[in-house]
Amino acid sequence: MKYGFFDDKQREYVITRPDTPLPWINYLGCEAYFGLISNTAGGYSFYRDARLRRLTRYRYNNAPFDFGGRYIYVRDNDTGRFWSPSWEPTQDKLEKYSCRHGMGYSIIGSTFERIRAETLYFVPLGENLEVWQVTLTNEGKKTRRLSLFSSVEFCLWDAQDDSTNFQRNFSTGQVEIDRGVIYHKTEYRERRNHFAYFACSEKLAGYDTQRDVFLGSYRGWDRPAAVVRGRSFNSVANGWAPIGSHHVRVSLKPGESRRVIFVLGYHENPVDDKFDPPGSQTINKRTVKPVIAKYLDPAVVSAAFESLRGYWDRLLGLYQAKTPDQHANRMVNIWNAYQCMATFNMSRSASFYESGIGRGLGFRDSTQDLLGFVHMVPERARERILDLAATQLESGGAYHQYQPLTKRGNNDVGSNFNDDPLWLIVGVAAYLKETGDWAILDAPVQYDNRPGSETPLFEHMQRSLRYTLDRLGPHKLPLIGRADWNDCLNLNCFSETPGESFQTTTNKDGKVAESVFIAGLFVLAARELAEIALRRRLASEAGEYRDAAGRMEETVRAHGWDGQWFLRAYDDSGKKIGSRECEEGKIFIETQGFCVLAGIGIADGMARKALHAVGEHLATRHGIMLQQPAFSKYYLNLGEISSYPPGYKENAGIFCHNNPWVMIAETMLGEGDRAFDYYLRINPSAREKISAVHRCEPYVYAQMIAGKDAPTHGEAKNSWLTGTAAWNYYAITQFILGIRPIYEGLMVAPVVPSTWKGFSVSRLFRGVRYDISVVRQGKGNRVAMSIDGKGFAGNVIPAPPSGVTSVSVRVELR
Ligand code: GLC
Ligand code: GLC
Repeated sequence: MKYGFFDDKQREYVITRPDTPLPWINYLGCEAYFGLISNTAGGYSFYRDARLRRLTRYRYNNAPFDFGGRYIYVRDNDTGRFWSPSWEPTQDKLEKYSCRHGMGYSIIGSTFERIRAETLYFVPLGENLEVWQVTLTNEGKKTRRLSLFSSVEFCLWDAQDDSTNFQRNFSTGQVEIDRGVIYHKTEYRERRNHFAYFACSEKLAGYDTQRDVFLGSYRGWDRPAAVVRGRSFNSVANGWAPIGSHHVRVSLKPGESRRVIFVLGYHENPVDDKFDPPGSQTINKRTVKPVIAKYLDPAVVSAAFESLRGYWDRLLGLYQAKTPDQHANRMVNIWNAYQCMATFNMSRSASFYESGIGRGLGFRDSTQDLLGFVHMVPERARERILDLAATQLESGGAYHQYQPLTKRGNNDVGSNFNDDPLWLIVGVAAYLKETGDWAILDAPVQYDNRPGSETPLFEHMQRSLRYTLDRLGPHKLPLIGRADWNDCLNLNCFSETPGESFQTTTNKDGKVAESVFIAGLFVLAARELAEIALRRRLASEAGEYRDAAGRMEETVRAHGWDGQWFLRAYDDSGKKIGSRECEEGKIFIETQGFCVLAGIGIADGMARKALHAVGEHLATRHGIMLQQPAFSKYYLNLGEISSYPPGYKENAGIFCHNNPWVMIAETMLGEGDRAFDYYLRINPSAREKISAVHRCEPYVYAQMIAGKDAPTHGEAKNSWLTGTAAWNYYAITQFILGIRPIYEGLMVAPVVPSTWKGFSVSRLFRGVRYDISVVRQGKGNRVAMSIDGKGFAGNVIPAPPSGVTSVSVRVELR
């Protein structure tokens, strides 16, 4: 069952019926102003921080699931019939409904009683505003006299406070209406110097700014009183719930078309120049008016939309693949890369599952997100790395999260997730390999944002390693702290109090419980840092890190192996977790994938055994489950992982984030068929045909797919904001297709299915365009390469002489 189709040429997913199993959303904006928009125009907007600068209101977990958004109403003034072209909120039976989600824009349209109404929503590059361009077309034979009503509900800025502090908020709302522009200025009279505005290109027949006047009392958004009677009330909000609604009258002859533009935006004024005239309480609109005027001009809107398209042409053009598999092609070339931008921007803050008021940016999440992003906008990756590192503590430890608006570590959640600091090394290594920007390692970076505490970034990475080595447990494996990558394996928590946070409660002193996962991560990170140290001519440090990695690897072999697979951890009483000795949770995915990915056990067959066990015990046709058997009851010593019903989330769900670890591990054993098979099982496009089961968007990854123990096996949840995006992109582009930036150049090491006759990749790398075409000559993964027609030994394409900007590479796989 499908609800639409991919239009790869336009780089759009086209939804052809509004009642998708769940809201299928898109993001508008990729710099500072952001919006979420569903296929029925639901969602909201914010400036930089989804909690503290929320422009429009949205009520999560509503019924219907998605309600509240950028709604438009069209009304036939002769018959009084009205409808919403995006289906919500009126839910009329529309013809030719479609929602085209594209790169940074959505176009939602439909036809109703021979009126075609289509709205293009997007955020122009470099601006803090969104454009809604409505095109109305009369497809009938009679002249039609129509009314158009826009609507948004303003949020009183702090989304958390907005949804709880009603005794205050019902009295603070304020607006101004000036020449048809609605300004939302709650709290502008006191400490804020920002406001929102909502403008329209046409002469208004009226407006409304007080929600309950526009809707009428005891009425909802499905039949606002103003729309029903065909005339706005010109209401002015004082307290209660400020909204913005314009009313425009449009008359259309048969065949005639009209564009109406609405602009919703955010603006800041200098603190000492807020009012005009000075001393009044009226917003100073001198700098905002030109912006508004500019975007009410259809020619400007068309040009801005073109440049947004061009921006994505360039970004996606950085890596383009042609393979025999269409699902791989469209995810690599379009949607997976696009999702990597979203995860980089949002971290885990704002989606239809992340409310925007909870988490800031996660240290481990954002460092991993870099893997799929560093090639896209390296300057932004650089800034993110430095911001993250500046929240690191002198001990080398890290705040688990930080707030994007203040860039400060979040004290409520604190530190002691013992994997966190190591991810910094992984992220920086990816950045260095992509850019060759070695200077970043010398950038002075503070600890805990304290001026005067600066050391070079490189030392931050050294302290990250040290942090692990300073915290080894009884088996000399890393102590787990509050949790490792698996936020729900809380081995020092022992919580018996309902509602207590598993993440921040610590009832044991944490000197016993150890993580084999962190050991694997440490091996990888220490070898990365050794490579980096070597290139900084720090031979003895490099040797030290290599030795530390070697010792840790030995420890894993001695104390982290269960006979057929890698153990997961030791609990606070020293008992094994993820062992055949356990009754439940005998085998976990994380250590199988990550230890092998780090190179452990490849030479001696352990890796092969571990991956075999994954195939046998964890793999399902919907992806690889996190562990088996699922925990059927709550285990005090394990924490949150056993709090979930079997098959969901960390309790034996298919946690898509770590599936690519296994894919990469398979490529390290040369198993292209298996790696790609796992890749396709969770590839959203490959799952499109089972949309009724999968339920989430078929164009982006979800965090989780329900495992086999769940009654809804195969159902995805929590789409968009997940490490799955970066890791899958990394796995397919760098390990399966095998086009991998390394310090010396671009490595070509494909491990693709044996049935593929070949594939090609066009990749921009350090300013040079590489066109690589791979042809299979034998069943293996051996590479024979020629560069610009000349045979070349090895599989690393060196940088061409300066001035050369394109290189063509032919590869035979033997
Ligand atoms: C969530 C968190 C991530 C964690 C994962 C597994 O995706 O954002 O930090 O690693 O869950 O628990
Ligand atoms: C819960 C989730 C986990 C997430 C964490 C973030 O524990 O299960 O996936 O990482 O919350 O706070």
